[in-house]
Amino acid sequence: MSKPFPHLFQPLQIGNVRLKNRIAMAPMGFGALSDDNGVPTQRYVDYFAERAKGGAGLLLTGMLKVEDQIEHLRARRGPVTREFIKPFADLTEQIHALGTKIFVQLSAGLGYQGRPHNVVGTPVAPSPIPSFVDDKVICRELSTDDIASLVTAFGNAAEILAKAGVDGIEVHGHAGFLIDQFSCSLWNKRTDRYGGDLRGRMTFAFEIFDEIKRRLGPGYPVQYRYGLRHYMKAVRQSALPGEDYIELGRDIDEGLELSRILEEHGFDSLAIDAGTATGHYWAHPPIYQQHGCMLDLSAMVKETVSIPVIAVGRLDIPELANSAIADGKADVISLAKALLADPYWPTKVQRGKVEDIRPCIGCHQACSEQFSGRYLNSCTVNPACGRERTHTILPALQPQKVLIAGGGVAGMETARVAALRGHSVVLYEKSTELGGHLIEAGIPEDKKDVERLNDWYKRQIKLLGVDIHTGTEVTTGLVEQENPDVVIVATGSVDLLPRIPGSDRSHVVATTALFKGDVSVRGRVIVVGGGENGCEIALWLRRRGHEVAVVERQSRLVNIPVANANRNMLLDMLVDEGVEIHTDTTVQEIGCQHVRVIRASGEVLELACNSVVMSVGMRSERGLYEAISDSFGGPVYGVGDCADPTNIMKAVWDGFEVARTI
Ligand SMILES: Cc1cc2nc3c(=O)[nH]c(=O)nc-3n(C[C@H](O)[C@H](O)[C@H](O)COP(=O)(O)O)c2cc1C
Ligand code: SF4
Repeated sequence: MSKPFPHLFQPLQIGNVRLKNRIAMAPMGFGALSDDNGVPTQRYVDYFAERAKGGAGLLLTGMLKVEDQIEHLRARRGPVTREFIKPFADLTEQIHALGTKIFVQLSAGLGYQGRPHNVVGTPVAPSPIPSFVDDKVICRELSTDDIASLVTAFGNAAEILAKAGVDGIEVHGHAGFLIDQFSCSLWNKRTDRYGGDLRGRMTFAFEIFDEIKRRLGPGYPVQYRYGLRHYMKAVRQSALPGEDYIELGRDIDEGLELSRILEEHGFDSLAIDAGTATGHYWAHPPIYQQHGCMLDLSAMVKETVSIPVIAVGRLDIPELANSAIADGKADVISLAKALLADPYWPTKVQRGKVEDIRPCIGCHQACSEQFSGRYLNSCTVNPACGRERTHTILPALQPQKVLIAGGGVAGMETARVAALRGHSVVLYEKSTELGGHLIEAGIPEDKKDVERLNDWYKRQIKLLGVDIHTGTEVTTGLVEQENPDVVIVATGSVDLLPRIPGSDRSHVVATTALFKGDVSVRGRVIVVGGGENGCEIALWLRRRGHEVAVVERQSRLVNIPVANANRNMLLDMLVDEGVEIHTDTTVQEIGCQHVRVIRASGEVLELACNSVVMSVGMRSERGLYEAISDSFGGPVYGVGDCADPTNIMKAVWDGFEVARTI
């Protein structure tokens, strides 16, 4: 029997550790899975154990601080103490039985990137440089005693973790955090042995390496993670893919030199990424980044060193991941978000069940806790992530007949989970196609993961035997005829069309209809509403050759809780493509060839246009929910946009919660 992706399933040696395959889980800091002292909880253990069950050969933990005195983090990221032995021993026992290894990522801290909400007191740095957050705050320069304490703390932490069975350590030298700050002349102005040329600036990292090896022996793997280039145009400004700019941070030449000296110093393996916290969209690549967006960088390192090289960056397309290994661009591919969305990515790939992989949609909505607003650390498309023990899908004690009205994402998630639990599920969709807003959301070239998600849902509910009826509108009569035990209404939302004088003109169209191709635009287009959808449609039109202007009433575009990485990249692309932006500007009237707007200053302008696209939000379709609630003698639930138009995460999570409860 031939193996579909053979290169991913070869063993590899790193130090004295043998990996069973070439698939690693990239480090992700999930603070919500630790207790208030930063100690891993049962949820932390379950979360990693699930990824081991899914087949990853190597798990990397998110960053854990080695100590908390020199820089005191409010966020729960360690520090590693003896209290870590029990949860890690529990975890390593489970994952080792499955042949999976674990490296813990250890960090010296955020340094100059410390923000008031996560660091107590003045941020520290290699040199007295202005803080990332506030130029007026000058960071405290670390003394040589501080550095020595940190080095010792790395040794202590590594020793504790090794005692608990942890297989290796990854030194967090990337993203512009403290160790990275030491390594780069932009931040390190020291004249002692920790500064100067690249080797001098790497002294801190080398002392950490030496200390861990001294304590745990030469065979114990120590990996270094760093950005081969920083992609920094300015302190708070990333560069876009392919953009011509002057690198403020580390450029590729220095990155390759760094790779050489890391190997020379004895590091066992190198994990390559890019970027800093600046702009976020390299260190945290959103949906707009290409799959394999940093593979060119690991390929260059592969040509430079002979120790194992680990690649990262939206590598979740199995063909791409397999060819990365086959073509010598990396020795290991690491997946972060993809293993949140589907922990079983490795086994599905191994068995050739690629279509059954639930895709990550690069939204950062649930995985980055600060954006979800719920402090859960989970995943938009996999609400059980981070709650594996409590949110397992269990068979229903009393299987029931469930009728679902609406085949958008909320309806399909409800159908999927209800069917998995053994309920008999019938799903009706008014239009001829399943998917709801996933259909238009997946149309732009850089949002194909949403289309993949839609395809995944359609396939899963079909495989699960959901009785699907498209082109049929649910009525109270139909509910009576079907006689279900439970009704779930997932009728979604429609474009909100505000009453502006002239908005009924024929050249004024709604976002959804435009994306779907039901209507068209010509010439210069004004997009009214600069939320995420408005900006995405503006970009999409611009890339189709239209001149485009966005008019937004608020003072900033995408002024809703969207991850910085996504927001920053979207806005940078708008500017890069030459989309005209008018914030603090309200539309007063839409004419035949213009839109009359008023700025916050009171200035009135006429912006010329041939077409207008309205993107000012969505209105829920609740009529059916109310009608069925009035007439049906059983439980009725409204899920997704029908209950409250928000986003894909809300729709999936609503569907999941209701279906796992009924
Ligand atoms: C929620 C979240 C937390 C992360 N935390 C860390 C971290 O603690 N340390 C680190 O080196 N990288 C961290 N990363 C970056 C990932 O390791 C990875 O480089 C990035 O997500 C790109 O990989 P992907 O495209 O497979 O998601 C984090 C990413 C996410 C999504
Ligand atoms: S929350 Fe979004 S970006 Fe994060 S893993 Fe899930 S789908 Fe991917």
